[in-house]
Amino acid sequence: SGKTVVIAVDGPAAAGKTTTCLALADTFDLRYLESGRTYRIVAYEAIRRGVPVDDRSAVVGLCDRLIDESRTGNLFTSSRYRPQELRSNPVDLAVSAVARIGELRGRVTELIHQWARVQARCVVEGRDIGTVVFPTAPAKFYLTAKPEIRAERRVRQEGHGSYEEVLKDVIRRDQADMSRPVAPLVPAEDAVEIDTTELSVAQVVGRMVSVCRDRGVANP
Ligand code: CDP
Ligand code: CDP
Repeated sequence: SGKTVVIAVDGPAAAGKTTTCLALADTFDLRYLESGRTYRIVAYEAIRRGVPVDDRSAVVGLCDRLIDESRTGNLFTSSRYRPQELRSNPVDLAVSAVARIGELRGRVTELIHQWARVQARCVVEGRDIGTVVFPTAPAKFYLTAKPEIRAERRVRQEGHGSYEEVLKDVIRRDQADMSRPVAPLVPAEDAVEIDTTELSVAQVVGRMVSVCRDRGVANP
């Protein structure tokens, strides 16, 4: 059928969003989008071009310029950014300031909507996907875990960085993302919340797959 299917996955850093979304994409044949990449690209370019991240109109102007410059008109499909660049410490430090800007969030939400219209079947991860971007998504998840566990996971995953530094960044971004006035990180009312602290990836994915099946998400 021509029905659009969107699965929304939100939660704080290193809760397991990317890992589980890739598994869902594989299981149900969905396209996958990491919305945080777009905020990271804007933060990265702001640093590179000397745009102060707390200058709201300058950052929005930068975002519009980047959209114009990207051939597809869609920032996050640009392959010119390497993961190491977008996950560097300066970007981690700048990204929450960029993501507080309501007008910028509006731009990014519009880009995600455009992309999803083309894909028709997709799983999208972020902080506000179930609450703001796709409030009527048929399946929504909110993944969490204790900050200490998430910091441990991120250190192991990246293979560098000190646990203390990573934990500090995780806690700082949790606070910034949860307390911002626009599209704060909170579970959607109808999201299935999963605390992954004591669960394996396979256990989390198993739960998510069965919820998706219950909600009628199937292979096309
Ligand atoms: O992978 P990790 O969870 O560490 O971060 P990310 O998903 O790449 O997101 C980086 C930052 O972008 C977050 O800390 C948020 O400030 C922001 N973000 C957001 O505000 N809304 C989204 N839908 C996705 C990310
Ligand atoms: O996308 P997000 O920042 O939420 O997390 P991720 O990059 O998918 O996951 C961070 C790391 O935690 C990955 O190396 C996973 O293998 C690991 N992990 C997990 O995601 N879920 C568990 N239940 C256990 C470990």
